[in-house]
Amino acid sequence: METALTIAIAKGRLQAEAFSLLAAAGWRLPAEESSSRRLSLADESGRCRYIFVKPFDVPVYVEHGIADCGLVGRDVMMEASADLLEPLSLPIGRCRIVVAAPVGATLDRHAVLRVATKYPRIAARHFGSRGWPVEIIQLAGSVELAPGLGLADCIVDLVETGATLRENGLEPIEIIAESTGRLVVNRASYQLKTGAIAALITSLKTTTNAGSRP
Ligand code: PRP
Repeated sequence: METALTIAIAKGRLQAEAFSLLAAAGWRLPAEESSSRRLSLADESGRCRYIFVKPFDVPVYVEHGIADCGLVGRDVMMEASADLLEPLSLPIGRCRIVVAAPVGATLDRHAVLRVATKYPRIAARHFGSRGWPVEIIQLAGSVELAPGLGLADCIVDLVETGATLRENGLEPIEIIAESTGRLVVNRASYQLKTGAIAALITSLKTTTNAGSRP
């Protein structure tokens, strides 16, 4: 008999939508979840266990097989170099990865551009593909501060509502990619827990298809 699934969920911007989607698909989290600070919870049916981790740690836990599956943003998967299956795109966590600069600024394409970001690989690939020389300055967050304080000429970051850019005097100048949630799966788990993973994929697919009907 297959053992229970462990599902890693990215904390933060995706989390509430991930919970709603899983609940709608019949993978309800235990009632204590909303008030709990616990980082690991078993569901009531015993079909799965949830672990709640930082977004960039989801592919790490899944690739190492500690979690069988994960719910995480495409932005994270584009930045990570994890060898995972990505069987499903999910209609949650919709945002864009953009290049943004101070309002009205013109970037000098011949000078070395200083780019602040939480996404060093995405930024390096993006500017590399254009042949722009860049210095990537990796930050852990609050990236929108960097141009105003003179640390960088521009940033590569996520935009959802655009409020953080606006309130920090920045504007998007280029869209690198659109991002939504992904279901990611460990390759060995896919073979060993075929039934449970197929059930998860089918239920999420059915729920998201139903939700996208006009
Ligand atoms: C993200 C992103 C932007 C902000 C964009 O940051 O890095 O800063 O949200 O959202 P908006 O377009 O709706 O304003 P997050 O909240 O994850 O925190 P961080 O800056 O500490 O990474």
